Amino acid sequence: MNKIMQIKKLKNELGAVIAAHFYQKDEVVNIADITGDSLELAKKTRDSDKDLVVFCGVSFMGQSVKILAPHKRVFMPKAACCSMARMIDSNYFDDSISLMEEYGITQDDIIPVTYINSNAEVKAKVGAMNGFVCTSSNAAQIMQHAQKEHKKIFFLPDKCLGQNLAIKNKQKYAVLGIDSKTKVTEADIICYNGFCSVHQLFTPHDIDFYRQKYPDILIVVHPECDPKVCEKADFVGSTSQIIAFIQSLDEEQKVAVGTEYNLVKRLRSKNTFVLSSTKPECPTMNETSLDDVLNVLEAYKKGDFYAEITLDEHVRLLAFKALNRMLELS
Ligand code: 13P
Ligand code: SF4
Repeated sequence: MNKIMQIKKLKNELGAVIAAHFYQKDEVVNIADITGDSLELAKKTRDSDKDLVVFCGVSFMGQSVKILAPHKRVFMPKAACCSMARMIDSNYFDDSISLMEEYGITQDDIIPVTYINSNAEVKAKVGAMNGFVCTSSNAAQIMQHAQKEHKKIFFLPDKCLGQNLAIKNKQKYAVLGIDSKTKVTEADIICYNGFCSVHQLFTPHDIDFYRQKYPDILIVVHPECDPKVCEKADFVGSTSQIIAFIQSLDEEQKVAVGTEYNLVKRLRSKNTFVLSSTKPECPTMNETSLDDVLNVLEAYKKGDFYAEITLDEHVRLLAFKALNRMLELS
């Protein structure tokens, strides 16, 4: 029996569901029951009738399922972490609040909004301050809602997404620890200094290159790209929104895409270009293989739960508060 058949057989026998993010390798996406952007994965996996989840992605994604559906057992075939999510932990969160306090901005003046690319402890800190989680597909909507409280928004960890939202809404923004005290105190959106190493690879120069080569080309990027890139693009959206946009185009329409390589290569073979002179692969997303999926299912069958996601219940409840507020709004 080949690996794919072994996985399917074991999955059915154990009553498992396999979820995979679009940045996973083709071999993994092809065996998944559920695919989607971060928002869709969280919702669809939570709502699946299966209580055993094999989640192929990065750890904040598996954690999101566990936060929302604690009765489910969630296993990640590879302990893969998003490098942006790694840029903040609960101590860095506290340090950021302290720095804002030093600048005269009290906790009552702030509402935190964390991008879903953050760990459960950080989401719990945000929940404890009555803040929100957002994803790339609903960030504008969540920010609009958060702004109803007439406070400064502390946006974390992705400074690019925070800056892109501020620019779109013509709001003042500053990056904490980088910009001056004056700029921070005057900002409507105070961004944490995190970023995605993969989406940093796309530059305005790449856009100029493609526009010169193919004057009618469309430029499509993910909002984790630098504001200078997003401002020059024709379409900015989450991974699902990018896929839907490109599927809606005429086959002859050339398009250059600024997001992870596995997704772009899967889009369509003709007239699609990777918006970078380097190969924009997410190293940790690329770690999971069919072997890892098979190993985790075989181990589970033997009672070896090495890859299970577990959360402290106090942390989970606070993180749930922030994550569920987002789901109620989107
Ligand atoms: P999406 O929610 O758009 O899938 O983005 C997740 C991500 O990590 C992009 O780098
Ligand atoms: Fe994280 Fe960037 Fe990889 Fe997305 S592409 S999972 S933000 S490191």
